[in-house]
Amino acid sequence: MGVYTVVVTGASGSAYGMRLVEQLLSRGHGVTVIFTEAGRQVTAYELGFALPENGAREALVSFLQAPSDGRLRVVRDDDIFDAVSSGTRKVDAMIVCPASMGFIGSVAAGLASDLAERAADVQLKERRPLVFVPRETPLNLIHLRNMTTLTEAGAVIVPAMPAFYSKPRSIDDLVNFVVGKVLDVVGVEHDLLKRWDGA
Ligand SMILES: Cc1cc2nc3c(=O)[nH]c(=O)nc-3n(C[C@H](O)[C@H](O)[C@H](O)COP(=O)(O)O)c2cc1C
Repeated sequence: MGVYTVVVTGASGSAYGMRLVEQLLSRGHGVTVIFTEAGRQVTAYELGFALPENGAREALVSFLQAPSDGRLRVVRDDDIFDAVSSGTRKVDAMIVCPASMGFIGSVAAGLASDLAERAADVQLKERRPLVFVPRETPLNLIHLRNMTTLTEAGAVIVPAMPAFYSKPRSIDDLVNFVVGKVLDVVGVEHDLLKRWDGA
């Protein structure tokens, strides 16, 4: 089974990140989750899930109604000693979902100033999969240039842009479409979206 890192930043769309973690766990994978401080706050605001200081793992397991079998790790963004800060830890793919423009800018500039940014930097230097799911509109030239830089460095940008040809009927459908596209990119099986087979 795979080993994944999911970073939830302070961009709108925490629901995408939560669905992604839930899916990876339900498919039997191991997941390390890092919330940035803004990601923690926006998740609390948008989903009503406030990650506690203590017992973060148990709280997330309970919120996601996920199996409590040790495959989920929740690591603090200031824990720079965590395993994902080193290239010696094999991580099949890291996904920043949702990704703020601030986080994208920091990684594009190579700052590596906290655990999440360092883990992204490691994926790039080790030439391992790194996916960003940005959410911002409209985009300025700095945003566009930073995403180009990340693409040139080997990352994949999967914008949080749900499609409408799938005839979504709920927010869940919209979230599933975006997360399904992310899982396709990292090669994880799922049945979140109906595949187009012609009109
Ligand atoms: C309710 C709310 C929604 C936000 N939505 C976005 C967004 O969609 N995209 C974005 O780039 N920033 C958004 N922001 C701003 C980021 O949270 C802010 O730039 C933050 O510093 C990002 O920090 P981080 O990258 O460490 O998570 C939002 C902030 C708030 C409070």
